[in-house]
Amino acid sequence: MRLICSISSRSVLPFAVIAAVLVALAPLAAGETGAEAWLRYAALDAKTAKAYEKLPSQTAVLGDSPVLKSAQGELERGISGMMGRTSGMAPSPTENAFILGTLTQLHALAPGLHPPEQLIADGYWLKSARVRGHECLVITAATDRGVLYGVFALLSKIARAENIAALDELEQPHAPLRWVNQWDNVDGRIERGYGGPSIFFADDKVRDDLARAGQYARLLASVGINGCAINNVNADPRILDNGFIAQVSHIADAFRPWGVQLALAVDLSSPKALADLDTFDPLDPRVAEWWRKKVDEIYRRIPDFGGFVVKADSEGRLGPSTYGRTQADAANVVARALKPHGGFVFYRAFVYNHHLDWRDLKSDRAKAAYDNFHPLDGAFDDNAIVQIKNGPIDFQVREPVSPLFAGLRRTNEAIELQITQEYTGQQRQLCFLVPMWKEVLDFDTHVEDALPEGSHAPVKDIVAGRTFHRPTGGVVGVANVGMDANWLGNTLAMANLYGFGRLAWRRDLSAETIIDEWTRLTFGNDPLVVQTITSLQLSSWHVYESYTGPLGAGTLTNIVGNHYDPAPESSERNGWGQWHRADHEGIGMDRTVATGTGYAGQYPTAIQKLYESLAACPDELLLFFHHVPYTYVLHSGKTVMQHIYDSHFEGADRARDFVVQWKTLQGHIDQERYDEGLTLLQYQAGEAMVWRDTICNWIYHLSGIPDQKGRIGSEPRH
Ligand code: GCU
Repeated sequence: MRLICSISSRSVLPFAVIAAVLVALAPLAAGETGAEAWLRYAALDAKTAKAYEKLPSQTAVLGDSPVLKSAQGELERGISGMMGRTSGMAPSPTENAFILGTLTQLHALAPGLHPPEQLIADGYWLKSARVRGHECLVITAATDRGVLYGVFALLSKIARAENIAALDELEQPHAPLRWVNQWDNVDGRIERGYGGPSIFFADDKVRDDLARAGQYARLLASVGINGCAINNVNADPRILDNGFIAQVSHIADAFRPWGVQLALAVDLSSPKALADLDTFDPLDPRVAEWWRKKVDEIYRRIPDFGGFVVKADSEGRLGPSTYGRTQADAANVVARALKPHGGFVFYRAFVYNHHLDWRDLKSDRAKAAYDNFHPLDGAFDDNAIVQIKNGPIDFQVREPVSPLFAGLRRTNEAIELQITQEYTGQQRQLCFLVPMWKEVLDFDTHVEDALPEGSHAPVKDIVAGRTFHRPTGGVVGVANVGMDANWLGNTLAMANLYGFGRLAWRRDLSAETIIDEWTRLTFGNDPLVVQTITSLQLSSWHVYESYTGPLGAGTLTNIVGNHYDPAPESSERNGWGQWHRADHEGIGMDRTVATGTGYAGQYPTAIQKLYESLAACPDELLLFFHHVPYTYVLHSGKTVMQHIYDSHFEGADRARDFVVQWKTLQGHIDQERYDEGLTLLQYQAGEAMVWRDTICNWIYHLSGIPDQKGRIGSEPRH
């Protein structure tokens, strides 16, 4: 049904229509629904199972906390699913055993076992060792949560048929805070959610049945995610009503066994909106007291509460500017209430004016985050974290890295990535975002002035708090899973949720490794399947970019509507500031210091030079930084105009080829997920043609320059 709704308002296209009808008529999948995601624990083939036959047949769990119980249950579930057997339980090993416990618990049993380096919170150590005369597989950590993560890591290895003989593997998380944000409304709808209604809320209350919330927490824990803010950043003040907090505590109960801390997005005007006070001025002592009492009430009900996410002075949300106060004033009043309980406030840097004057060639939304937050560096409390979107605009298919990462040095930072594919195909199209996120996280910010000579400061180190020795930092992903059996509305899109968690955990994993892991866990180890799906996923971002927004012009989509269809004029002549400034002579936003908005000047010098110079600016960001004539020649040797034509035609061809590749999987994967993938990829092939034809015709009519290959503009114009 979702597909039908998406296309009903536009011209009818064969591929899209056929695909939509197929989806509507498809019977409900009986077998593989995608619900288990990458935690399927499918039975191993006989040869692989034989390689693991020496695995222990007993499990010794050294404690009884809820998280350790989950770890034990998960181990049993995984081993029985993959190996078809169960293991006996013992308080300490009486035969070869898996040993699960924290280091402290382990040392009571095996005082001589020491990890090769000190384990920090959430890190784990997998070690084959002789304990009390038995060959054991020890899964230990500084905390219960680390033990749980170790169990998931071990099961993942087995599912991917990795050699686990003589294990000695220690992993520590790169970023301390690895959170997802859900944009769920209390009425059950999800803003920019494409996987069905909320798993938390329905009809203005918390759902009675929270089974899916628990299953979601399990999925999150399996990739090391340790916090989840459950409601929309455009927060409903009612979420802080005491009655509602009592309901929300049930969701925290469902998260707790998986070590996922619950957090809430809050409306900064809540003290007034809930009619408790006549003000929400962050510097008014009554407001500070209100937040303190409210937070105390939350911790009374949810002792492991994680904290708040705040969106203020943005897109119509109220904020500290109402009282002439700063964003730091607002963050700190909330942070101070959370501090005694160990909670954090993630304060979003997505503060901008959406009523910009489009006639003014100097105005530029991209400058807003830096302009608003850079002057406040050092003014935020140490449990406040400024949460910064990866790029300066809004999750476009291609943006430069936000200059604010390098612009804050005495402030905790987190990067905000978007797992839900708002501008990148809304889970109806394949767009594996890990390669994009890798580029952002690996991007060297060139803060040379602040570092010893020869060292680098990639974004991933800054947000982990490492570069500037901050007390904390993190990686946040807007996930928006829903009640659809397969969580995101598309099994293939789950690679983004998986990849997000893996990237937040490990700084060095490649996109290739991540997608290889995900594919094996989700579809099994058949080489044809692994090769085909990994190659589709790895090329999908570039393919999507090539027909929706090449050369950094932004995603040429319907800005004022659904953020999905091609509608290149919709971004112009309005205050939202997602302009590409295409006219009959040229295209692109001049953001140089010399002649443009000055945005390029927000970067450290080395980067500024790269982007400021027309000659040096990389082709893929050219139109983000420069306004050029259509005849401008790129590094590739093509004109901008010809690149736009070629890119769209190649993109549409490659999307069509996705279908051909997918068809080679028939009989190699289950029929349910084969059919699901085929339907979506056929639909995508149709959508790519819509994009190609819309954008190419639009730009031809603007510029009057026909395609050199005769595909567009070869007929006389009327
Ligand atoms: C985008 C998105 C909104 C969201 C906003 C945000 O603009 O379209 O739905 O509220 O980002 O991140 O706050």
